[in-house]
Amino acid sequence: SETTYAELYERFADQVSSLPSTEGLANTKLYRHEHGWHCKLAPMVGSMVADACFAARPSDVIVATLPKSGTTWIKALLYATTHRREHPPPVDGAAAAADHPLNTSSPHELIKFFENQLYTREKVLNLDELPDPRLFSTHVPFVSLPRSVVATEPGCKIVYVCRDAKDQLISGWNFANKFRVKDGLEPLPIEATVELFCNGQTFYGPYWDHVLGYWHAHVANPQKVLFFKYEEMQTDPATHVRRLAEFVGLPFSSEEEDGGMVDAIVELCSFGRMSRMVATKGGHTEFSSGVVPNKAYFRRGVVGDWANHLSPEMQQRIDAITEAKFKGCGGLT
Ligand code: A3P
Repeated sequence: SETTYAELYERFADQVSSLPSTEGLANTKLYRHEHGWHCKLAPMVGSMVADACFAARPSDVIVATLPKSGTTWIKALLYATTHRREHPPPVDGAAAAADHPLNTSSPHELIKFFENQLYTREKVLNLDELPDPRLFSTHVPFVSLPRSVVATEPGCKIVYVCRDAKDQLISGWNFANKFRVKDGLEPLPIEATVELFCNGQTFYGPYWDHVLGYWHAHVANPQKVLFFKYEEMQTDPATHVRRLAEFVGLPFSSEEEDGGMVDAIVELCSFGRMSRMVATKGGHTEFSSGVVPNKAYFRRGVVGDWANHLSPEMQQRIDAITEAKFKGCGGLT
């Protein structure tokens, strides 16, 4: 007889429960996947169910990131770019974007994660019914992506964003501590956080393996995997929006260019503007691992904040690992 979704889910849940685990950053068990990455139970199970169930279409676009690497930002940019015909961004910077979906829905509602929103214990959405182009996201490393996403036939596109290791660490540390404090726990000291980070015991980490997995996939097939860096997006967001639009097959026309469409998207998705959206101020997003207030995704949004928190020794320790791991990957460092 046919295996039901619930049976499949429980089978993977049993499998993950018996994997080795450690205490992670956020007061939850971190399981170690057989491909070497770490994660909470429910999203790891979700990633396995997604692998078994998801059927990719050539028009699908998958956002892939480590947490705290600019996921919210790239989701907003991709959504605004892909849907610009039905939902044009306001072109005069002063106008309120009240009618834009990004005002009322978090980027995490508009582009959902496979592993903790779509393939949950009580799967709610039938993805086959969604119109093209479907936009999804994941934090799962390249090696553990759903097989139909990785396949080249029919295949789909992947947009990866990577962020400086030290800034990703500091962002994750602040984020995790918000939840620890809410749970009545002491915030995790930075020393212990750096130790876990260097040992690869972070969500979907080791950091370096995650970045390298997508980097190699990008080098092997740049038409399939787009690779952005958070820092370069900060320096020149407009160029990145143009590259994103071309990559997903929707390049800006000269009319759109002349009408200021690119800058309007950049402005709509900017940290300042996104922080003031209705969805950010009062909204929440539900994940299998818990409910997160949308404002938690907006802290400072700058490059180099690590310098305010890491000692020179910590900096050197992390930089040395990065240098060794990324050696020979010109373009990555
Ligand atoms: P900081 O904690 O360093 O401020 P993610 O979306 O992957 O969870 O990443 C969150 C990080 O991206 C946070 O970094 C957050 O402030 C920053 N961020 C969120 N929205 C942004 C935007 N529109 N532009 C730039 N950075 C943004």
